[in-house]
Amino acid sequence: MVVENLADDVKKVVERWKDKEGNLIMVLHDIQDHYGYVPREAALEISRQLDQPLARIYEVLTFYNYFKLQPPGKFNISVCLGTACYLKGAAALIEEVTRVLHIKEGETTKDGLFHLQIVRCLGCCGLAPVITVDGKVYSAVKRADVMEIIAEHSKNHGQK
Ligand code: FES
Repeated sequence: MVVENLADDVKKVVERWKDKEGNLIMVLHDIQDHYGYVPREAALEISRQLDQPLARIYEVLTFYNYFKLQPPGKFNISVCLGTACYLKGAAALIEEVTRVLHIKEGETTKDGLFHLQIVRCLGCCGLAPVITVDGKVYSAVKRADVMEIIAEHSKNHGQK
């Protein structure tokens, strides 16, 4: 999503919510719906237009897991850390994704290809431990499988 009309985009959203109570969170929701995340420039612009301290905006953004501060990747990797997956070694899968892609939870690779998120139960505990990539489910994943899963998605994008 292009951020070049950012001030205008923010203005439209602020106009919609400015007289409503609890408007900050609604503005942030709309901005994330629009861009897929909340760019820092948008947070600055919201701060200016809503006359709220930037620190307050980041307080809200970091309190709710829902908000993303980085652009989503082309592929979104979700590693389940719910109880069943945790007990079957999901923590090692997160370590492996982090090792291979050099990103932590909530981050996107520099090339914009992969974004890592950790989720709590994908509703298929019998398949634990589970990873999904853009909704495609990988079951009973072992640490050694992680590289292959990543390669499957990056092979057409000039990566290993
Ligand atoms: S705990 Fe991972 S799918 Fe339920």
